[in-house]
Amino acid sequence: MIDARNARTGPTKIGLDESEMPTQWYNLVPDLPSPPPPVLHPGTLAPVGPEDLAPLFPMDLIAQEVSDQRFVDIPGAVLDIYRLWRPSPLYRAYRLEKVLDTPARIYYKYEGVSPAGSHKPNTAVPQAYYNARAGIRRLTTETGAGQWGTALAFACAQFDLQCEVWQVRASYDQKPYRRMMIETFGATIHPSPSNLTAAGRQILAEHPDSPGSLGIAISEAVEVAAQNADTNYALGSVLNHVLMHQTIIGEEALLQLAKVGEQVDLIVGCTGGGSNFAGLTFPFLREKLAGRMSPRIRAVEPAACPSLTKGSYAYDFGDTAGMTPLMKMHTLGHEFIPDPIHAGGLRYHGMSPLISHLYEQGLIEAVAKPQRECFAAGVQFARAEGILPAPEPTHALAAAIEEALRCKESGEERVILTALCGHGHLDLPAYDAYLSGSMVDHELDESAVAQAVAHLPAVPVG
Ligand SMILES: Cc1ncc(COP(=O)(O)O)c(C=O)c1O
Repeated sequence: MIDARNARTGPTKIGLDESEMPTQWYNLVPDLPSPPPPVLHPGTLAPVGPEDLAPLFPMDLIAQEVSDQRFVDIPGAVLDIYRLWRPSPLYRAYRLEKVLDTPARIYYKYEGVSPAGSHKPNTAVPQAYYNARAGIRRLTTETGAGQWGTALAFACAQFDLQCEVWQVRASYDQKPYRRMMIETFGATIHPSPSNLTAAGRQILAEHPDSPGSLGIAISEAVEVAAQNADTNYALGSVLNHVLMHQTIIGEEALLQLAKVGEQVDLIVGCTGGGSNFAGLTFPFLREKLAGRMSPRIRAVEPAACPSLTKGSYAYDFGDTAGMTPLMKMHTLGHEFIPDPIHAGGLRYHGMSPLISHLYEQGLIEAVAKPQRECFAAGVQFARAEGILPAPEPTHALAAAIEEALRCKESGEERVILTALCGHGHLDLPAYDAYLSGSMVDHELDESAVAQAVAHLPAVPVG
């Protein structure tokens, strides 16, 4: 039962009609006080141009990557597919509030209703659409826990594209059901590092038991795309156009909160490469920069892979083998292989350059959390709200719960918004490890961080 303090004062699920679904993505860059530093060609160290990116991406996405338009129309074919699960619900977590006995009001935007079970199809669908329109026949990609690989496999099936996925070995072994789902959508999947690429063979020669990393899997997928004219590469996070596609989450959340007359005080989201965090928060940041609201915005990353809170802000490669352009970002070094924590989607050595820039500008905050605290929050959330979160958003839930308990101490009635960016139905071995007591925390101490960033590429400052 809900007592008077947490009594239901409005809807539990705040929905939007399909006709209310936003029809434009939002590009934050033109609204920023200063633009992020340019992406550099690793050979010349000059800013990259469209021709440098053309072997991997179609021109429509390259244009979006460097766009100076604040809003970009979502193509009709993409909107049609979005309608399979969008608009997604915004929930008021009445039951969690009650368990925590907090005066805070907690809202979560739930992206687990998508075909892949996460926010990832919001960008997989437009990426497949623009590639198919450009005449591309096959997309290659990396995946961590498997959410992104599933999303791209689904999107490719919608546009008759072949799809080839390299899944980080640790997750491939921990989460076998994602492979089956990816194959059901018609894609091919390999554990990474694999013997199929030069990048994979080089890692295996040095480390035959390598658990893999997102950086290695990216190298493998990029290598295959760069060598085949009918094949492009699709990235599930990090890049500006990916973050922009995700902003439909925050645009919907703004409309939903307006329906119940709420002003948000704090937004928390987990960050791997930063796409769900950006998707939820960028529309709110626009409103904040325009002086229309003033939420604090907090990124939550794993203590085992703390790129924002402990990494260097420096130019680095996006992949382990050093095939991508150089991006200025918070990074633990492209050679860093994070411990095999269960939130596979957060095991990335870097952070999106745009989010790194916001952090440098003081526009967002960041904290790092160990996985057992996150799973404790995930279990508490599941028991109260009935949704089993993916391991990645348990990081955001841990931070939301921490804030709600602070409100309990102070008596403040804060409004907290978080991104429940995926369900964990195919991540059950992670819950098993937590519940059986076999899960361990991995934290990077200062000397491990210093070692990790020791091999950053030399780029003259200027
Ligand atoms: C459910 C879920 N959340 C979060 C992430 C992390 O990625 P990003 O920071 O791009 O949202 C992933 C990545 O695979 C994911 O699957």
